[in-house]
This record gives sequence, structure tokens and C-alpha cells, in this order.
Amino acid sequence: VMRVIRTVKEMKGVVRAFKRVGKSIGFVPTMGYLHEGHLSLVRAAKKENDLVVMSIFVNPIQFAPGEDFERYPRDEKRDFNLAEKEGVDIVFVPSVKEMYPRKNLTFVEVEEITQYLCGGKRPGHFKGVTTVVTKLFNIVMPDRAYFGKKDFQQFKVIKRMVEDLNMDVEVVGCPIVREKDGLALSSRNIYLTEKERESALALYKSLLLARKLIEEGETSAERIKEKMKEFILSFPHVKNVDYVEIVDQDSFKSVEYVKERDLIALAVFVGDARLIDNWVVGEE
Ligand code: PAJ
Repeated sequence: VMRVIRTVKEMKGVVRAFKRVGKSIGFVPTMGYLHEGHLSLVRAAKKENDLVVMSIFVNPIQFAPGEDFERYPRDEKRDFNLAEKEGVDIVFVPSVKEMYPRKNLTFVEVEEITQYLCGGKRPGHFKGVTTVVTKLFNIVMPDRAYFGKKDFQQFKVIKRMVEDLNMDVEVVGCPIVREKDGLALSSRNIYLTEKERESALALYKSLLLARKLIEEGETSAERIKEKMKEFILSFPHVKNVDYVEIVDQDSFKSVEYVKERDLIALAVFVGDARLIDNWVVGEE
């Protein structure tokens, strides 16, 4: 059966015991309200490690005032059932007090590549992510940690942090898991009404449109972005296109002409939900 751990002290103790006997640890950090995207990370972790640890922690410091920290969906029972069924060995579910017992004065910040896309639109967001992920890495001491490319920028930012700070963990990126119709799975999809759910497809479909334009020979990033925006805005319930960008996947700077491996990324408000999606040019 799956072990539930709520304190840093117990988590560190258990991890040390496993490490002493030479077992490898795969780690899947999440904010819970689990779906197939999260579970695909668990499956990847199970293949490559002796022990799989999942964390469920809605990290307050990666949300800005006015964002959805308070209403972020939480359902511990449901999450524990799904995690256990998937073969998670240990679920680490600290409280906010356990992770931040007093005012946090120490932060980890990756510069430059966090200034674009979601980082540009959500100032301080990635600082909160890299700080909590560093704390979680120090607590869980994983050999490998698994991140979804649904949050492509997050994956790259954490990879960069690990390299820059010589952290002893291998960062593994996993493919985006989608619904049958193409909508990228997200805990935030729960915010969508039935009608909004249809419009949420605008993100995926706009990426297909970009792909088609590129396959037809279009190379102007500006023209592709304009057509994507116009297309997205034609859906009802789309409140606002937060951004549509075509960037170099290492620098995250906008490109003028699209090339293979560039990242097409977007964030769109559908109803009250801020949804993101992306496509790496040339990939399936
Ligand atoms: P959360 O949004 O819960 O996502 C946890 C992990 O699941 C992330 O690595 C994310 O990229 C991955 N994921 C989410 N939807 C996915 C999908 N449709 N396909 C593939 N992977 C998907 O990301 C966070 O939590 C937090 O920022 C965290 C890293 C836990 C730090 O607080």
C-alpha cells in the first residue's frame, strides 16, 4: 500500500533509509487534482526507478495575488486513490505551514529565460516554482524528477536551475497528454463550463493551424501569430489571449522566422480559466 507522509522530517528519514540500501528514487512533483498527465509521469518514473515519490502541494508562493491559489481544486482522497492505483510508493503531502513554517527569506531564481511567456505574464511565478522545487528536491533527494512538457517553460527553467546549481538530479521531460479531441489535460480544466470546454479547444486547434501554415511554407512568425490570435478570438467564451509567441526553445526569445525546434506557446483565458498549450515545431 501507498505510504502517506506529511512532515519533512519523516520524508527525509524514509528517503535516507532507502538510499542506504542503494534504491533509486523517482520523483513526481504535483499540485494535485490528478489527471492522466500527472499519471503519465508516474508511469515514466516507475520504469526507471526502484521507488516513486509523488508530492502534492499547492505552492502559495508561485501564485500572485488575485490568481487562483484559494480556489485551486483540491481533493486528497481522490488523488490518493489515483496515485495508489498507479503504483506510487510514497505520497508527500505537506501543509503550507510544514513547507513554510515562517516567512521565507531564501529564494532560487533563474534569470533571463523566466522573463518571457508565462514568466513575463506572471511575474514571480517561476521564482516560486524554482524555490519550492529546490525545497522538494532537498527533502526527497530524488535520482530523477519528472516534468510534463505541457509546461514547457517550467521544464526548461528547472533543467537550467539543476545544471546551474549542480543539483544531483536528472530532470526528465515527458510528452503532453491530451484528451481525445486534443485539449491538453490540466487540473484547471475543471473551471470550464460545458460550453467553455468547447472553446478551450481553440488552443490546440490554433497549434494545428500554425502547423498547417508552416507545412504550406509560411515562415513569418508574425503572420502565424496573427492568424492564430484571430482564429482563437473567433471562439465564444475566449476572454483574452494572454500571449501567443514563437520563440527559440533555448533562449525563449521571439524569432522572426520559424525554424525546426522553435516553440509555439500560448496562454488563453477561456471563461475564468487561464489555459496554456504549446507545440515544438517539427515534433509529432
Ligand atoms: P501541476 O500543474 O500539478 O503539474 C505537475 C506536473 O504535471 C508538471 O510537471 C506538469 O507539466 C505535468 N502535467 C500537467 N498537465 C500535463 C499534461 N497534460 N501532460 C503532461 N504533463 C502534464 O506544475 C506544477 O504542478 C507545479 O508548478 C510544480 C512543479 C508541482 C511546483 O509547484
